[in-house]
Amino acid sequence: MRCKMRERPIGVFDSGVGGLTVLDELIKKLPNENYLYIADEANCPYGTKTNDEIETCVVNLVYYLIKQNVKAIVIACNTASLFVDKVRKLTTIPIIDVIEPTSSYAIKVSKNKCIGILGTSATIKKGTYQKILKENNVNTYPVACSEFVDYNINSDKAFEIVNNKLECLKNTDIDTIIYGCTHFSILEKPIKKLLGQNINYIACGYPTSIKLYEILKENNLLNTSTTLPVINVYTTGNVEKTKKAMSWYKKIDEVKHINL
Ligand code: DGL
Repeated sequence: MRCKMRERPIGVFDSGVGGLTVLDELIKKLPNENYLYIADEANCPYGTKTNDEIETCVVNLVYYLIKQNVKAIVIACNTASLFVDKVRKLTTIPIIDVIEPTSSYAIKVSKNKCIGILGTSATIKKGTYQKILKENNVNTYPVACSEFVDYNINSDKAFEIVNNKLECLKNTDIDTIIYGCTHFSILEKPIKKLLGQNINYIACGYPTSIKLYEILKENNLLNTSTTLPVINVYTTGNVEKTKKAMSWYKKIDEVKHINL
């Protein structure tokens, strides 16, 4: 019985396909696990929604994943992670957010404790990153850039929009930047071109994968079965549109539609 529990999938979700950057790191750290990823494309973007609207999306996704018998949930979205405390009250299965592990990792990595945070409007407005970092004596440089969510390719337009938005960080002391939105590491090329290579760029995936590993181990939930792992990707939106949006992610080619 306990063994079957360990073989259950890990539910992972994001408002869209940016969370695949997190899924990718989870798979690298925990290759034996089964995964069920949901891109909530029908409700994307979250970053410009009200707190109540985002919370409703997050609660619906968590209930859906609980019904699918997942053994743990990873909220692979910063904006949705703002509501982790609310959804933890709905279930006894572990729920891992991206904000706490990413903040802790950035604090460790930064030498001068000056950290830039790039997030959606909702993430920057709610200020969870700023609060955690300030509690650890970090100078924060938050920038709301919800419009980056629409640019997932290295086009001229992407370079232009990144330059306009992040110019304000150019002459600061920051030695570390948190990609406080899963979609932003997809824009790494224009961001690095503007701000240079001498900054630590922290995406949420790696720190979150370490946290997931620790939590599964602690709860005796690591999958020890030798059966080939299954990774299912679902979208609440249009399948073809989702496939196009995730064309940069070469490891998955099948996407199915679900209604929550
Ligand atoms: N993926 C979300 C995040 O990490 C943001 C995208 C959106 O606005 O839906 O914050």
